[in-house]
Amino acid sequence: MQYRKLGRTGFEVSDIAHGLWGMSGWSGSDDRESLAALQLSVDLGCNFFDTAWAYGDGKSDGLLGEILTRNSQKRLYAASKIPPANGKWPALPEYKYSRVFSPAHVFKHADKIRKKLRVECIDLLQFHVWDDSWTDEPEFRSTVEKLKADGWIRYFGLSLNRWQPENGIRALRTGLVDVVQVIYNIFDQSPESELFPACQELNVGVIARVPLDEGSLGGKLTLETLFPRGDWRRGYFGPDNLPKTVKRVDRLKEILPAGMSLPEMALRFVLSHPAVSTTIAGMRKLDHVRQNMALSDAGPLDSSLLAELKNHRWERTPQHWSD
Ligand SMILES: NC(=O)c1ccc[n+]([C@@H]2O[C@H](COP(=O)([O-])OP(=O)(O)OC[C@H]3O[C@@H](n4cnc5c(N)ncnc54)[C@H](OP(=O)(O)O)[C@@H]3O)[C@@H](O)[C@H]2O)c1
Repeated sequence: MQYRKLGRTGFEVSDIAHGLWGMSGWSGSDDRESLAALQLSVDLGCNFFDTAWAYGDGKSDGLLGEILTRNSQKRLYAASKIPPANGKWPALPEYKYSRVFSPAHVFKHADKIRKKLRVECIDLLQFHVWDDSWTDEPEFRSTVEKLKADGWIRYFGLSLNRWQPENGIRALRTGLVDVVQVIYNIFDQSPESELFPACQELNVGVIARVPLDEGSLGGKLTLETLFPRGDWRRGYFGPDNLPKTVKRVDRLKEILPAGMSLPEMALRFVLSHPAVSTTIAGMRKLDHVRQNMALSDAGPLDSSLLAELKNHRWERTPQHWSD
């Protein structure tokens, strides 16, 4: 397993890390299997885990708390997120900051997360949505400073809205944000344009999320794929998006080097960018954990393949089905 610095936090985190959304929000989850997948990650050297209160109203935080307790002899890093008080994804500029992240809301949820994680101090606490128009709100600064001064969190981060990687750069420049979480994968390469250079300049850690495009880059979707009602992926891979995605995935399959699988190409693509500190793959299946953790030591893709993958960049803007 390879480790990278998470920006100015100084945390040495495994470059392949574990995301817990699916475990508490998607169909086909089984808690025993999820816990076994998390434990296997730990055994294989993964030390960074991303969860959120919104993933099952604390359910994923609780699963992670169980894993932290079982492995208390190891330094594992836990990242979680405060949900927006108005319950709306993504954040929009017309929403008032005070209606989304009031101090009372933030501290109440930070405390609930601490209890679920079974820790006094959360390694990394993120806001689950963000709009850069909120940057100069005095309560944003005082809330982050108090969370740190009271010892409730070690570092603070922002999880940027889907397909809006620039909507957070102003906040990074306040110095309050130690880590940013952003969608980055073979399709969604836009963070390379402005966000990554800003993070490198400011020594802000980068968590690359959704490295497999919510599973499409696992290579198993077909035009007939239909997720059950209540599963968020039913909307995301709906009629607007599924056919285009399957077509693009097929084009990627055509350029796979001999012996390389699509998820391998996808994860190694993400790790090839030097601004990325770690990538959080959603993994509930033990086989996925084994396959993905093994890729850490495979290193970056070669430059000719990276150049070819530039042609697969897909510029997308938020849609009614994308959040
Ligand atoms: N707004 C936000 O802050 C936000 C939004 C989205 C995601 N996230 C975070 O980012 C994490 C990752 O994103 P994600 O889980 O949504 O999507 P993802 O990592 O792009 O894809 C996860 C899917 O890929 C499958 N998979 C994993 N490894 C595979 C492999 N080797 N071969 C084939 N399929 C494979 C998983 O299957 P199994 O689960 O069945 O193993 C799961 O269905 C989340 O868990 C969450 O922590 C944050």
